[in-house]
Amino acid sequence: MPRKGTKKEATFKLCPKIISGEVTRAQAARSIGVSTSTVREYLSQYRAQEGLPVTYPSLPPELEPTDRELLETTDSHEDIATLWGALEKRSEKAIEELKEARVWRFKTKEYKPIGLVFASDQHITALYAHHERMRKDAEVCRDTPGMMAWLAGDGVDNHIKHRSGIIHASVEPDTQFKLYNHYLGFFGDSLLGGITGNHDHWSYQMAGIDMVGELFKQRKLVYNKHEIVLEIECGDQVYQILVRHSARGSSIYHNNHAHARERRFGSGEYDAIVLGHTHEVCCKPDHYKGRKVYDIRPGSYQVGSDCSFQWGFPDATPYCPTLILYPDKKDMIGDEDIHRAARILEIERKAYE
Ligand SMILES: [Fe+2]
Repeated sequence: MPRKGTKKEATFKLCPKIISGEVTRAQAARSIGVSTSTVREYLSQYRAQEGLPVTYPSLPPELEPTDRELLETTDSHEDIATLWGALEKRSEKAIEELKEARVWRFKTKEYKPIGLVFASDQHITALYAHHERMRKDAEVCRDTPGMMAWLAGDGVDNHIKHRSGIIHASVEPDTQFKLYNHYLGFFGDSLLGGITGNHDHWSYQMAGIDMVGELFKQRKLVYNKHEIVLEIECGDQVYQILVRHSARGSSIYHNNHAHARERRFGSGEYDAIVLGHTHEVCCKPDHYKGRKVYDIRPGSYQVGSDCSFQWGFPDATPYCPTLILYPDKKDMIGDEDIHRAARILEIERKAYE
């Protein structure tokens, strides 16, 4: 009987090859005799142990070549039963992977508070987007020890869907994404990952090209198209934070109504919920079932647009909320202004030296 831990050790040995793409998770699972979700879990532990960012696929799990062939070529009634069998196999695999595909686990190396920075809705190249503020916020994040950034979508306008947006775009989407990539560079190593917004996602919706996913993959950042659950082990504490662009239940009266709805009807128990899209900044502490929680919206760097002026939306304020997590007690401090949060974080970290 193999001793306990053998399969984990075998998976750890294969992790460098899985990360380099030489071996797929499915191949590793078959060769070791474990499920793909077990390989995923061990890979996550391996990355945390090695201090590597943990990445998960943004696209549905790949089909086995035989399944793909079958799905593309089957057109006879005789093959329908076989096709059904292939679909069962494919969906079982996809559903199994879906459970874990959104979770990113991270363990801090220092026993000190950390600052999670959330930015979204930059709408780079838009006329009223605050480009200088974008750069300065990213640079503060880069230069402040313990700060790490997450992006919550709509980095660019990417107007390829609505005719009026296409006509009025001053810069083509191709150049917009190049500028977005340039902006990602302002964060240095402090940028860990993010998701898409509805604007970025139009490329995938209309042409199957996930531009943000490609850029993040090139930079080896954590990425999932619509949702990431950050599971952060900071010292003795574990924090669960949900990051999405859009959510159900937004209210024009309460900018954290969708957060409350997510807590009431969603599937997770989150310490903080970060939502983009509405262009209204929010960084509010609250209490839910006896726990302190935070409701965050990064707001938008785009102060306004012809559309927002026409329809009477209020001007957006270009803030960049930051949430400070503590290692020795389950506690958080949020500040909508990254510059003030950086000063607080510096003071708080000194107390742990
Ligand atoms: Fe937006």
